[in-house]
Amino acid sequence: MPVVEPKRSIYDRSMDQRTEKLWAKQNQHEGDRQRLFSAVAGEVDAAKVLYPGSYVDVAASFAFPEVTYVDTDDRANRFFADVDGVAEIIAEAAGWTDGRRFTFLHRDYRDDLGLPLDSFDLLISLYAGFISEHCTRYLKVGGKLLVNPSHGDAAMASIDDRYRLSAVVTSEDGRYRVSRSGLDGYLIPKREQQITREFLHELGKGIGYTKAPFAYLFERVG
Ligand SMILES: C[S@@+](CC[C@H](N)C(=O)[O-])C[C@H]1O[C@@H](n2cnc3c(N)ncnc32)[C@H](O)[C@@H]1O
Repeated sequence: MPVVEPKRSIYDRSMDQRTEKLWAKQNQHEGDRQRLFSAVAGEVDAAKVLYPGSYVDVAASFAFPEVTYVDTDDRANRFFADVDGVAEIIAEAAGWTDGRRFTFLHRDYRDDLGLPLDSFDLLISLYAGFISEHCTRYLKVGGKLLVNPSHGDAAMASIDDRYRLSAVVTSEDGRYRVSRSGLDGYLIPKREQQITREFLHELGKGIGYTKAPFAYLFERVG
């Protein structure tokens, strides 16, 4: 697992140009994901994080010490293969030089990832399909799922007995806040409908709720 080494000087830059470009595009709303993950890290004590469908969103490593990224995309594979370049992005953006670790698996998250079961503290599911269905087995009981609603995975978690809603992540003017109050008022569908796994698969997107936070934090309870 690559370790982020202390930055020596700006003249040591060794980053592949493609790495730099991919990160610039991913980070076009500058610092947005860093703010999101920092807000979550402030509330969730997560040492080991699993991020399936990550693409090149290495901002998770700005906030968490050990992140396993998973994606089928070849550009993401090339990006993470530039281990020094990615380490440089992490060290520069986060200002950390304390041996953060990251791994990339060029794999389909629906397959067996060969990772230890029940071992991660946080599972991240952002805009990348029904990750909770396939990857909850890697999350510890007591661990958290950070999930946004757009691809239906938040709805999927809401009907999964292994999960209980533990907080919402709201966003205002580019700032993120984790809130644990009034949770009963969330995940209430706008339209009366029977929400099942089959229904969500067929729908292939999120469902409309009366309140729309940016994301949810679910705790694995079973
Ligand atoms: C829209 S991007 C979101 C990237 C990142 N999560 C973000 O929020 O910036 C979705 C990513 O999920 C990846 N993806 C979708 N299904 C996947 C699967 N079954 N296994 C691995 N990666 C997958 C795609 O390759 C793509 O890079």
